[in-house]
Formats: sequence, structure tokens, C-alpha cells
Amino acid sequence: MTKKYVLAIDQGTTSSRAILFTHEGTIHSVGQLEHDQIFPQAGWVEHNPEQIWNNVREAVGIALTRGNATHEDIAAVGITNQRETAVVWDKTTGKPVYNAIVWQDTRTQKIVDELGGDDGPEKYKDIVGLPLATYFSGPKVKWILDNVDGAREAAERGDLLFGNTDTWVLWNMTGGPEGGVHVTDVTNASRTMLMNIDSLTWNEDIANDMGIPMSMLPEIRSSSEVYGHGRSRGMVPGVPIAGILGDQQAATFGQACFEVGTAKNTYGTGNFMLLNTGTEPVRSENGLLTTVCYKIGDQPAVYALEGSIAVTGSLVQWLRDNLGMFDDAPDIEHLARKVDDNGGAYFVPAFSGLFAPHWRSDARGALVGLTRYVNKNHIARAALEATAFQTREVLDAMNADSGVPLKELKVDGGMVSNELLMQFQADILDVEVVRPKVAETTALGAAYAAGIAVGFWEGEQDVRDNWAEGGRWKPTIEPEERDRQYRLWKKAVTKTLDWVD
Ligand code: G3P
Repeated sequence: MTKKYVLAIDQGTTSSRAILFTHEGTIHSVGQLEHDQIFPQAGWVEHNPEQIWNNVREAVGIALTRGNATHEDIAAVGITNQRETAVVWDKTTGKPVYNAIVWQDTRTQKIVDELGGDDGPEKYKDIVGLPLATYFSGPKVKWILDNVDGAREAAERGDLLFGNTDTWVLWNMTGGPEGGVHVTDVTNASRTMLMNIDSLTWNEDIANDMGIPMSMLPEIRSSSEVYGHGRSRGMVPGVPIAGILGDQQAATFGQACFEVGTAKNTYGTGNFMLLNTGTEPVRSENGLLTTVCYKIGDQPAVYALEGSIAVTGSLVQWLRDNLGMFDDAPDIEHLARKVDDNGGAYFVPAFSGLFAPHWRSDARGALVGLTRYVNKNHIARAALEATAFQTREVLDAMNADSGVPLKELKVDGGMVSNELLMQFQADILDVEVVRPKVAETTALGAAYAAGIAVGFWEGEQDVRDNWAEGGRWKPTIEPEERDRQYRLWKKAVTKTLDWVD
């Protein structure tokens, strides 16, 4: 029977989605379920891994039903995921020993400071390509082993497994305690602070420094190969699971950024800009991360420089949920359009500290420049502008690292439907901003990785051929005005630093 679709599972920060893609790279059907955001203390963010796994299964069921399809129509499954979010579970019972600690969580600040010692945040950078920061998985695993009763002993006995959510989903889909495959891909491994970025193998010394037994770590494989097959509990019995890419890398792949110097920016809960740097890792001098972009089977790994911004779309959610400023996230655009400018207000959403290019865990959010003139429409506008200004900081760092200014930026993710933001983004960057027709490039990238592994697609050329432009914004603002606004933004950033005691 001819296979009609590839199934992508996108296990994201706020929801889990299952999407069936056709051979033309178009969406056939979607299932999506949100999971709880758990905030036990200021700075802590957790997810319930069992809820996530149940949602994944249900989302797959919904996508199949809505698409009038069965597992027999599916050529392969690709998994993409929120990266860095750490799950530790018992391999015999399949039960997590603690909630997943989410990438935005800052509880590991003390661990990170102690690990850095006199060397500070740069301690492992040459080996792993990352500064020591609360963002990455390794310190989160250490926190679980240090703080959950009996966890360290169980880990040392070899009873516990660790994975980002890609590994958690894969292990469950392939049988869980009954033969589940304990594997991750190079892109996810490059977000743990435990993988040597040149050799693409675990670094035992760093794992020792963090007290993490090697037996907990998944096997590192390429992003496109058959890792295992679905078992009945995973809804897709017998279907090869053949692609894994961290969500930002998946979007880069789905946007067909295959040439050195091409870049994409995804607007999700946070923003993540990745620039393809080719088959050699490039170390950043300007606060960017060195990360693996993708590795197709036996081909050499392709690397990227990444500018990670922790809070963009989640600021819009915060205005909706914590302040009740509007009912639906897209409504922010209606408010922001009621005014011509930000009224002098600048909003720096350093809720998880500041990520790239600052890497300041001691920063906290600030809304500055307020006068009695400022109303909620200005604040809505300032919140949208924060996304664009933070992206400008990252683009400046990328231009400085690569020495070649980027000419246009491919964008994707939920917020790119916001026309006001896209125009402001082009204005503040002074580059053209381009949106593809299929904005779901994260899930699409994972589908391509899986489909290529099983021959559903032949290779990168199919991805290029399927990519089509869906919108373009050109800069219109006067240079003096751009500079004035960006100068004020930078001043606002200085007000957020050194806030945590
Ligand atoms: O590094 C965190 C990133 O992978 C999360 O992405 O789209 O779930 O916000 P998203």
C-alpha cells in the first residue's frame, strides 16, 4: 500500500501537536493539546511528563481521525521538541521521578555558579559550545539527583534514564519499560552541556563534574535514521520513527536553510535565530551558542550559530493570563494598532534572566519610560516591540560573528501572523523579513528528516522545491528614527541587570 503521509510530533513548551504532512509538504490534518504550566516558586517552571505523553498519544489520535487516516497510511514519524527540558524516569516502572524541569526554569543558578567556579560561565564553552547557564539540561538533571529522595542512589544503580522530551516521547512510543529505545539526536544532545560539539559524543568529565552517571544518558544518533518502530501504545504500530530534531533546528531544516549563511528566526514562546555555518562548528565571540543544526544519516553534521531569546510570545501570554489585558493572544495587535507608537514605554521581559547575547541570569523584567500618558495600548505595543528589539540584538551579534551582514531573514512561528510586528521587525532590523506559505516549519522540518530517512522524500532538494514564499516586509523607517528607538531599548536593558540579590 502506498504511504500518503509523514506524521510529525511537535512536543512544544505549551502544547503537543501531531501533524500529517503530504508529499508536497502541505498540512493534511492536525491534533493539538495544551499541557499545564506549573510554577511552584518564582523562577521555577515545570511540566508533567506523563501528561505530555498522554497528550502526544491523544494528539496523534485526533490527527488520524481528522485526516481520515490510519497508521497504515504513514511512511514514518518525525519527532521535534522543546529542547533542554529535562525528564528523569525509572526505566522499570516508566514513572518520572520528578516533573520535567523546563528550559525557562532558573532554579539551577547556584549549581551553575558553583560549576563555573573561578572560570565562570565560559568554563566548558570550548568543549560544548555553550556558556554555563540555567537554560541547559545537564544542571537540571544534577538538581533532580541532588534534591529528589533516593534519586542519586537509583541513578548510580543504573535504574534511571534521562532525556529531553524527544527521548521521553520516543522511549514511550517504542515500548516504554518493554524495550523502549533510549536514544536522542545530535541536535538535542548539543543542548545538554554534556556533549562534545566536535566529536558529537558525551563528555565524561563534564558528566562527572555534574555527578551524572553515564548510564542515564541516551545514545546519540543522527537526526534522520530509523531509531525504532511504534508499538501499539504509541498509536502507530510498526511505523518507523525516523527523525528527531530539536524544534529550532527542525524549523531551520523546514525553512530549507541548507546553505552556509542562511538563517531563520522562529517566533514561539521565545525567539530563536539560527544561522547555518556549515560542517565546522564556529565559536561565537558575541554571545551566541554553537549548536548542531542537523545531521542526515551518515553525512557530516551541519552546525549553526544560535541566538536564543527566552521571552517573546510568552510575554503576550503573560499580559493575557497574569494581567488580563485581552482574551486571545492575537488581540494584542488590535490594541497596539490603536496608537501610533509606544508612547515612550519600553518593556524588557527578562523573566528568565536574559539569554543571548547577554547571558545574564541576574536580570529581571522591567517596564520603563512610563508617564501618565502611557495607556494599555502603548504597553501592548511595547510588548510587541520587545520581540523585535531582542531580535535586533541577536542579529547584530550574528553579523559581528559571521562578518557578513544578513540580507534577509526567513521567519516562522505563531507570532509571524502579526502584521504590525513583522513590519516593525523589518524596520528595526533594516533587512527584509520573509514568511513562507507553510508557517508550521518546525513540524515540517521533523517530517522531512523522517521522510528522507525512509525514502518518502529523496533529500534536501525536495525541501527546497516545496518551500514557497508567503509574505515579505521591507524596511520603511528613517535611519535616525530606527537608531533613536534602538538606543532607548538598549538603555532599558541596562535597567534590568543585576536585579537578583
Ligand atoms: O530552547 C527552547 C526551545 O526549544 C523552545 O521552543 O517553540 O517550544 O518555545 P518553543
